[in-house]
Amino acid sequence: MSKDDKFLTFALTKGRLADKTLNLLESIGITCEEMKDKDSRKLIFVNEEQKLKFFLSKGPDVPTYVEYGAADIGVVGKDTLLEEGRRAYEVLDLGFGKCRMCVCGYPEAKELLERKDMIRVASKYPVIAKDYFYNRRHQTVDIIKLNGSVELGPIVGLSDVIVDIVETGSTLKENGLTVLEEICPLSARMIVNQVSMQMESKRINGIISKLKDALNKQ
Ligand code: PRP
Repeated sequence: MSKDDKFLTFALTKGRLADKTLNLLESIGITCEEMKDKDSRKLIFVNEEQKLKFFLSKGPDVPTYVEYGAADIGVVGKDTLLEEGRRAYEVLDLGFGKCRMCVCGYPEAKELLERKDMIRVASKYPVIAKDYFYNRRHQTVDIIKLNGSVELGPIVGLSDVIVDIVETGSTLKENGLTVLEEICPLSARMIVNQVSMQMESKRINGIISKLKDALNKQ
């Protein structure tokens, strides 16, 4: 196989991010018709003409595929990048999937934070939570890993606060909870395998600069 025949492989995060990513890629002429068939059970989609392959995976697996070179390029939320801590170049903020990582809880929990009490923190993001409390707030806490519906933590008395994603804020509001502190802003990012970035720099940089132009025009 000549160098020109090499396929570039994209790992995309399943769900909302994937749809937005495909729309953005389409705006720069990168298409994958096969992927639009929602009933398909296929796992890998190929655009023979453009020498591109695409697959969908759960968010936390995207940086893993990219670090090991099973995918050259990945699209994933900044939350997942921070949590997984994988080796890859973060090359572009795609501007969608915007939300915030926050410490949330009942309004009364603010006092526990101010006093730097030894509190319980429930989160789907234990690495982010630990880094925030230990390294930024210098507060010793007990971190409890949950896998979803994290807002239940304070409601059922499992934890004093939670570290979670806030997008519209409606989940918090409907449950009497509030943002107590903001940790960082989040959005979808494009990441690139470190070897691919060297070996396929022309093609990959071409894609990055077209995406930058498309994002600037939005
Ligand atoms: C996320 C997050 C919050 C909610 C925030 O949960 O964990 O629960 O969305 O969105 P909002 O501010 O717009 O209400 P997701 O829907 O991904 O499900 P999960 O709770 O099972 O993680």
